[in-house]
Amino acid sequence: MGLLLLFGVVMSLSLAKPGFSGTTSSFNVMQYGAVGDGSTNDAPAFVKAWEDVCHQSNSHISRLIVPAKTFLLRPVIFKGPCKSKYIYIQLTGNIVAPKTKGEYKGSQINTWLSFNYVEGLIISGKGTIDGRGSIWWDQPCLGNPVPGTTCRPPTALTLYRCNRFALKGTRHLNPARSHITLTSCKYGKISNIRMTAPDESPNTDGIDISGSSNIRVLDSFIGTGDDCIAISAGSSRIHIAGITCGPGHGISIGSLGTRGEMDNVEDVTVRNCTITETLTGVRIKTWQGGIGYARRIKFEGIRFVRANNPIIIDQFYCPHRTDCKNETKAIRVSDVTYRGIVGTSLTKEAINLRCDQNIGCSNLVFDRVSLSSAVAGQKAIAFCHNAHGTASHTKPSLTNCLLPN
Ligand SMILES: *[C@@H]1O[C@H](CO)[C@@H](O)[C@H](O)[C@H]1NC(C)=O
Ligand SMILES: *[C@@H]1O[C@H](CO)[C@@H](O)[C@H](O)[C@H]1NC(C)=O
Repeated sequence: MGLLLLFGVVMSLSLAKPGFSGTTSSFNVMQYGAVGDGSTNDAPAFVKAWEDVCHQSNSHISRLIVPAKTFLLRPVIFKGPCKSKYIYIQLTGNIVAPKTKGEYKGSQINTWLSFNYVEGLIISGKGTIDGRGSIWWDQPCLGNPVPGTTCRPPTALTLYRCNRFALKGTRHLNPARSHITLTSCKYGKISNIRMTAPDESPNTDGIDISGSSNIRVLDSFIGTGDDCIAISAGSSRIHIAGITCGPGHGISIGSLGTRGEMDNVEDVTVRNCTITETLTGVRIKTWQGGIGYARRIKFEGIRFVRANNPIIIDQFYCPHRTDCKNETKAIRVSDVTYRGIVGTSLTKEAINLRCDQNIGCSNLVFDRVSLSSAVAGQKAIAFCHNAHGTASHTKPSLTNCLLPN
């Protein structure tokens, strides 16, 4: 008996995915009544399967198999915490969103697929997550929104308080709003994914990261028409590398400090990225009147191809608002490094540093930056306002532009 048990454990060990040890239990959505014809709402079947996956208590990895079919899901929340150490979603098939806004009715949150409080979540496979968002792009609201409220189309995929997650190899298309939102997650890795949406689709950010730490985004293609990656309040230790970004708005930190908020972002590195035909390249944007900081941020090994504004710090950020005033308070921007950066700018101001009039930006470091104009006969220039730091081997020149620290 004892031997038999031991044998069972050894068998399971050898069947487990490399890199993990322990037992694996698998659940296929088809066994829970999913149809996979692309028109039946398979959300109830996915939720039923999820209940078993999440509550499987005697396995190390609990696996949800989504086979090679097309599954229509209405808005759905996959709730944790779960019992297994890892929840592995093997996404081979395609998941598509409803074609009509009416099918979103009754879901209280602005998200289509959401994972809440799931630890050890792994989503991996060559499958597609298709937000079919075009129905939202012209007319974002359902019915008439209450005046004064904002009406936001749903994010395609939300991870809320999911620690130790990995998202790998998947493809993401046409979200109603952002492709992926990470909120209050720790220790996560997104790699080898591909996200696309038309250049003119509104607010279709690639990955929005807020309140999260120790997150890596690696080796992916993001061409979505808006921010490729936006890092906002409460985020730290964010590492981005090997991203091909564009068309869209580049990689942004912020906006921070809206309506006097206290917002902090620190320890961000953006490395080895190519940013093509974006409205802005790498940008730090803060509102007047906020408190907090954006500090220890590094942009290294970046190549710009015809970016509109390759390098920007904007401490007077204020789009779509009429009451833009300069305030005495501002988010403190410091220790920002731009190193090994090359490429072309569509506008004249290839480097644009608009720092707050009172606090300013401090310890900006430019080293081996070479930006030229993408427009024949136009000269690339740098603009500085209250920006403090040092520059070496930088073109356009920052002499008489940067102030000493
Ligand atoms: C840089 O990123 C590309 C993907 O864009 C990747 O293929 C390459 O290996 C990366 N190089 C380094 C040195 O990380
Ligand atoms: C705020 O200050 C900046 C820098 O001095 C200036 O360019 C801008 O016009 C001011 N904005 C307002 C709304 O006063």
